[in-house]
Amino acid sequence: MAEHDLSQLEKQYYLDIPQQNQAFFLKGSNNYDWGMKNRLARIFNPASGKTVMLAFDHGYFQGPTSGLERIDVTINPLAPHADALMCTRGVLRSLIDPSTQKSVVMRASGGPSILKELSDERIAVDVEDALRMNVSAVAVQVFIGGEFETQSVHNMTRLVDSCNRYGIPVLGVTAVGAQLTRDARYISLATRILAELGAAFIKTYYVPDFETVTASCPVPVIIAGGKKLAEVDALKMARNAIDAGAAGVDMGRNIFQSEAPLAMLTAVRKVVHENMSAEHAFELYQELANR
Ligand code: R5P
Repeated sequence: MAEHDLSQLEKQYYLDIPQQNQAFFLKGSNNYDWGMKNRLARIFNPASGKTVMLAFDHGYFQGPTSGLERIDVTINPLAPHADALMCTRGVLRSLIDPSTQKSVVMRASGGPSILKELSDERIAVDVEDALRMNVSAVAVQVFIGGEFETQSVHNMTRLVDSCNRYGIPVLGVTAVGAQLTRDARYISLATRILAELGAAFIKTYYVPDFETVTASCPVPVIIAGGKKLAEVDALKMARNAIDAGAAGVDMGRNIFQSEAPLAMLTAVRKVVHENMSAEHAFELYQELANR
């Protein structure tokens, strides 16, 4: 039974202070429910509005990728330094410490291996299992212009429907087939379609004129790192993407295949969260790598 409030303290209603309605910090995300916003705020740093996600889900279609042969050895020491971890549920359960405070973006599509037509994916995770693993978002590959374009779009829209019931954001990932031209026109087409169909944020590749991609996409866009580049070039790409309106990076190979992965992750964070120039970030990388 509730107790009576017998306090002698005078009640204070702060009648001169109107209650504030705060806009949510993330582009296009103000109209979501509390749970969805809270999950997004675990991925994107509310102070900078950006994220540095560490991607190590590559095994879902290409097996033991270089640098990911032993995730326990190579990735676990890096994990505390990322904002979010992007991986499959198999790796999450088998190799990632459940006491981690990091948010997880879980790979939720799959099917074909590198030996087959990659666009022929299906949804690979049930939303209940994603909830059970306390993820902050799920990720689905969408192959605009690919052979199984409609199937992969349908995978995403079904995931959006099931995840919206529980306030789980869906990360739409634009997958570019070898036969498609990776330019701003194509990337704008793909990112806009994914946003229109319900993705809460989008991962794509950096291309010249990227500001036209971010301007025409109503939700946050982050970039994948792509194939391993020289560290200075990867840092320049991150800088250019942020300057063109990207909300962060989801970087894998350019971190875990670097000569000095932790130094590279630290340098990327400086570019994304602290507006450091690519040149200064590269100097920092070299200094940390040589310690
Ligand atoms: C592809 O395998 C995954 O979606 C990766 O998470 C994504 O490509 C980011 O990794 P990377 O920076 O190595 O391209």
